[in-house]
Amino acid sequence: MQTIFSGIQPSGSVTLGNYIGAMKQFIELQNEYNCFYCIVDQHAITVPQDAKKLRENIRSLAALYLAIGLDPEKATLFIQSEVPAHAQAGWMLQCVSYIGELERMTQFKDKSQGKEAVVAGLLTYPPLMAGDILLYNADLVPVGEDQKQHIELTRDLAERFNKKYREIFTIPDARIPKEGARIMSLQDPTKKMSKSDPNPKSYIALLDDPKQIEKKIKSAVTDSEGIVKFDKENKPGISNLLTIYSNFSNKSIEEIETFYEGKGYGDFKADLAEVVLNEIRPIQERYYDFLNSPKLDEILDAGAEKANKVASKTVKKMENAMGLGRKRK
Ligand code: TYM
Repeated sequence: MQTIFSGIQPSGSVTLGNYIGAMKQFIELQNEYNCFYCIVDQHAITVPQDAKKLRENIRSLAALYLAIGLDPEKATLFIQSEVPAHAQAGWMLQCVSYIGELERMTQFKDKSQGKEAVVAGLLTYPPLMAGDILLYNADLVPVGEDQKQHIELTRDLAERFNKKYREIFTIPDARIPKEGARIMSLQDPTKKMSKSDPNPKSYIALLDDPKQIEKKIKSAVTDSEGIVKFDKENKPGISNLLTIYSNFSNKSIEEIETFYEGKGYGDFKADLAEVVLNEIRPIQERYYDFLNSPKLDEILDAGAEKANKVASKTVKKMENAMGLGRKRK
């Protein structure tokens, strides 16, 4: 059975972008693969975090993973900082990474641009992420398009390590959905929908109040043409909404376009809100059940134990290959 690894940062609201680009795939894949899904809290501290809020966000993300349908009997759900092998592997992989290649990462450029003081962790984020994936010898990494460059670097680092030291790592492939790999901001459809966007109207959070979701969809930027048609270049706003509609309704974009022929954006947006809420309302109900249940901690404890077993073995192999410490089995 092939292995899957993926992670999400507990750094605020989980958006419709995270859900469509990544999380929905997690659930589909858990039946056919050996899956490890991680709450990557060590990645989150590469930007300033309030300690109390971070703890809350970690728990919240865990409950959300379960609420969307992650089955802890099938997939391993755990918190990155509870498995020390991640930081250990991250360090070893930093020592095979070149500063130049890390500085070329788009995410590093975006997050460091114009800042006077940039923490080193922002630069060394990709080798930590590579460690996450390589520790489990993952074959596939389901992610949205913005993570593609990080997966490519992971492959380079794995190949470099394998060649320089010993053949330890499986070279992973990214699994990027054909549609919905890049959900755009509702206020500026040329920008990615992001949980760190200062304008909350630009994104829908899975835990937004249903009334708010309706309002955000109604105020989403479109164009003055009034024709529901997919045209990414000339009609980015409506194209983005069509992608979301298609994803939530399991209807093709063509089917949706045909249905709204002769109808305006008002009808389309009202129906879109309904389609989205039909899926999100039950997720929110399950979310609050999990958040308040002692089962959540049991699941995370069991997940950390399982992940630790696999990951600490890989760390030992890495240390042996690099000659660290004393020889152990
Ligand atoms: P993060 O937390 O920013 O996002 C989690 C996942 O959501 C996807 N995503 C999107 N997909 C479509 N449209 C969007 N607007 C959108 N915004 C986010 C992301 O591509 C991602 O798949 N570095 C990672 C976390 C990470 C990780 C890993 C992922 C750490 N270690 C190992 C995979 C494997 C990140 O910051 O994702």
